[in-house]
Amino acid sequence: MAPRKLAAGNWKMNGDLAALAEIDALVAAHPAPGCEVLICPPAVLLHPMKARVDGGAIALGGQDCHAKASGAHTGDIAAAQLKGVGASYVILGHSERRADHGETDAVVAAKAAAAHAAGLTAIICVGETEAQRDREETLTVIASQLDGSIPEGATAANTVIAYEPVWAIGTGRTPTNDQIAEVHALMRERLAGKVGDASQVRLLYGGSVKPDNAAQIFALPHVDGALVGGASLKAADFGRIIAALDAA
Ligand code: PGA
Repeated sequence: MAPRKLAAGNWKMNGDLAALAEIDALVAAHPAPGCEVLICPPAVLLHPMKARVDGGAIALGGQDCHAKASGAHTGDIAAAQLKGVGASYVILGHSERRADHGETDAVVAAKAAAAHAAGLTAIICVGETEAQRDREETLTVIASQLDGSIPEGATAANTVIAYEPVWAIGTGRTPTNDQIAEVHALMRERLAGKVGDASQVRLLYGGSVKPDNAAQIFALPHVDGALVGGASLKAADFGRIIAALDAA
């Protein structure tokens, strides 16, 4: 059986208390979606957002966590703290964190292990740069990021993988269907050596997913949903993506 599909919204460093109205609109428009719906807002919005979705069909997640359980790490957030305010997921190793904060595969794996220990599902992001794609290194890069970023103990229940080509994020450009399908097939195969129930691991595509291209992406083999940035900020747009995933 195919795993339950996942529509995940990554708000990045966008949104404030007024933006909670978008969540109300999303819940009103999609009270019982067939796919799992997840919003990862800035951490400061998790708690107030939880109150809006409590008992509803929307799950919440953080955008990063520290590898340690607690301690002297000014400005960081522990996985258990995310969990404590209502998160059940955390995005890890997003290319913006890899680039802005120098996160290596080993750091991402350590954070994912911490997320698992706290009972969170880790959404581990991988993706090639445009230069790497031009040099035809995409599959090697993805394989090595998967090998390095997935910790021991990863299962289909506690781990989701997002393929996000760096050059497709926020640019309006997307890979061809064949390029997405090629990477997703490689990921499924690669996971078989690392995660026992690899066929059940959700594999998301991310990078300029919009209402207009969602259906075509969701029709591809081994695409179990999307990680959506810009188009997750507006309930109307994200709602159309959820509907496309439900119809896939
Ligand atoms: P985008 O971002 O949908 O705005 O391209 C995706 C992401 O970075 O998760």
